[in-house]
Amino acid sequence: MIVLGIETSCDETGVALYNTTPWEEGKSAFLGILGQGLHSQVAMHRDYGGVVPELASRDHIRRVLPLLDQSLVQSGLKLTDIDAVAFTQGPGLAGALLVGSAFAKGLAQSLGLPSIGVHHLEGHLLSPLLGESAPQFPFIALLVSGGHTQLMKVSGIGQYELLGETLDDAAGEAFDKTAKLLGLDYPGGAAISKLAEHGRPGIFDLPKPMLHSGDLDFSFSGLKTAVLNQVKKHSTQNMSEADIAQFHADLARSFVDSIVAVLVSKSEKALQQTGCNHLVLAGGVGANSQLRSALNAAGLKKGFAVHYPPLDLCTDNGVMIAFAGALRMLTENNGSTTSGAFDIKPRWDLASNNLK
Ligand code: KG4
Ligand code: ZN
Repeated sequence: MIVLGIETSCDETGVALYNTTPWEEGKSAFLGILGQGLHSQVAMHRDYGGVVPELASRDHIRRVLPLLDQSLVQSGLKLTDIDAVAFTQGPGLAGALLVGSAFAKGLAQSLGLPSIGVHHLEGHLLSPLLGESAPQFPFIALLVSGGHTQLMKVSGIGQYELLGETLDDAAGEAFDKTAKLLGLDYPGGAAISKLAEHGRPGIFDLPKPMLHSGDLDFSFSGLKTAVLNQVKKHSTQNMSEADIAQFHADLARSFVDSIVAVLVSKSEKALQQTGCNHLVLAGGVGANSQLRSALNAAGLKKGFAVHYPPLDLCTDNGVMIAFAGALRMLTENNGSTTSGAFDIKPRWDLASNNLK
């Protein structure tokens, strides 16, 4: 089965073509990726310091068709080779989701194909199955993106249990807001991680929120405020450029160390509580090198395996949507296909979409 995947939930337009045959034959799921196109709107939103929903929707309209053409050329396929169309049904920006949904359903209807609405986070949390060492079910997924921070128990396709989540800012949001405080461009996650590499550990005593809360929930807004307080406290007026750069790098280092410490500790707790020994890291913040090294080190020490998606599939993309849609269709025997209505779900709880 060839599944077309369309991702338009936020500021990336992603299109991909996925062949389920390798997966069905027990081979590497990665072999099923036949073609993909991705356009990031980051440069367009940068001037505004964040995503402007209306601009995002309009850009998805402009990009989606050329990206489909690109994916078809790359894969050597024709439109008529496609068996089903998967699209991100939610959660995300309503206007942006509508573009993908309208496009996917229009195309599916014109070709006489089923369409399937995919939960964006399901795309993220199944994407490590496309990685080099695919995890076995059940596993714990640490989902860290711009909009979500969650620990989930994944018992199988469509079997998700929320163990804990952020009570305020998402991890990616904390990265982006802190980056802004340090004068870095949106989205600042990758930039702050790079800056932290030049920082010295332990210079600033930043909080590690909810580290000892006893549950698996998170809170990151206080950490961002603590960074803001340090920025306010240190006047950089009489500092040399080199000293300012070092100050920012040290602050970035303390910020990253704090956030990583909390994420690692709660992941360990989730593994312990559930008796799982496989952890999956997914979502944009999953590209963070400090988090990856800390989780790898913890895994070696505590005896659990850590699995990642391929690095370029950590942030939003069409492949994960095509893949998740394909697995849903195989598992549910096509039962998950959607109607012709434009029923997007800007707010959507993943576990509510579990298979019975
Ligand atoms: O999953 P994603 O592409 O979009 C959402 O679904 O939200 O995640 C985007 C988030 C942004 O907040 C971005 O700053 C963060 O992922 N991010 C990173 C890194 N690369 C992307 N955060 C920390 N370190 C990185 N290397
Ligand atoms: Zn995402």
